[in-house]
Amino acid sequence: MHWGRAAMGTERRHHRDTASANGQPVAVSVRNLVAGYGGAPVLSRVSLDIPAGQMVTVVGPNGAGKSTLFKILVGILAPLGGEVRILGDTPERARARGGIAYMPQHEQIDWDFPVSVQDVVMSARFGRMRAVGGWRRFLPPSLAPAEHRQAALDALRAVAMSGYAQRAIGALSGGQKKRALLARALAQDAPLLLLDEPLSGVDRASEALIMQVLHKARDEGRTIVNVTHDLISARTHADHVILLNRSVIASGDRDEMLTDEMLARTATAPWVPGPEAVGITGS
Ligand SMILES: Nc1ncnc2c1ncn2[C@@H]1O[C@H](COP(=O)(O)OP(=O)(O)OP(=O)(O)O)[C@@H](O)[C@H]1O
Ligand SMILES: [Mg+2]
Repeated sequence: MHWGRAAMGTERRHHRDTASANGQPVAVSVRNLVAGYGGAPVLSRVSLDIPAGQMVTVVGPNGAGKSTLFKILVGILAPLGGEVRILGDTPERARARGGIAYMPQHEQIDWDFPVSVQDVVMSARFGRMRAVGGWRRFLPPSLAPAEHRQAALDALRAVAMSGYAQRAIGALSGGQKKRALLARALAQDAPLLLLDEPLSGVDRASEALIMQVLHKARDEGRTIVNVTHDLISARTHADHVILLNRSVIASGDRDEMLTDEMLARTATAPWVPGPEAVGITGS
């Protein structure tokens, strides 16, 4: 794989600037976040530190605000209040310098566009091509420099999708689309991967393959943050768990978080908007 030392070096550099109070390096830091879509806030008083270099799983019921949190972290939704730092930077800047690879939830994607699997994966490399600059950045993906095409093909091979490179993305099955999107996230070579339900609708064999790929990325020093409703998977794979329901219910070691009591508390958490939220709705 092309998961380069450059990205890991960047991450280490940022770790020095982003150590938490107990000295553990932090990839994502959120303080008093308020977020929503215009009506009453969806998230309120969200504060958390995501440890770097770990497999972190966000668990919470439907509508808890998990995808909303990811949209904030990736910088495509502006917070209504609070502060977010990604590897010591704002989400927009972290994304602009290629620090974040994001895989949106399946339901958020319009698949009906005529583009091949390989071109979707290649699009993860556009930031790097632009960074190099020159006339090559205007090339269509099929004529992009060999290193970028190779990175896309390597990522497709890692998720066993090499045979589908030229297929239209909309003509794939649900599980195949997930694997293509995961390949896109991997091809980006980012130190932080935000994956919104990467395992939903995926068969057991593909799930095992995806988790193997994610463990490898984690072992290379990347921070993987994913959302899942699959508690068996979370119990097996997560290093750190965040329980979320409109606010952070608890966050910590997976064995302490994934108890029946903690999960019940997360599922039934009453919605108590903070003073910031009340201020924002203005009602
Ligand atoms: N674009 C949007 N506009 C308005 N409201 C939205 C939008 N997206 C999400 N919401 C609302 O925000 C709340 C949280 O949604 P979000 O998608 O973050 O939940 P989730 O935890 O990811 O749920 P799921 O497990 O179903 O994916 C829900 O009440 C939802 O209706
Ligand atoms: Mg969601």
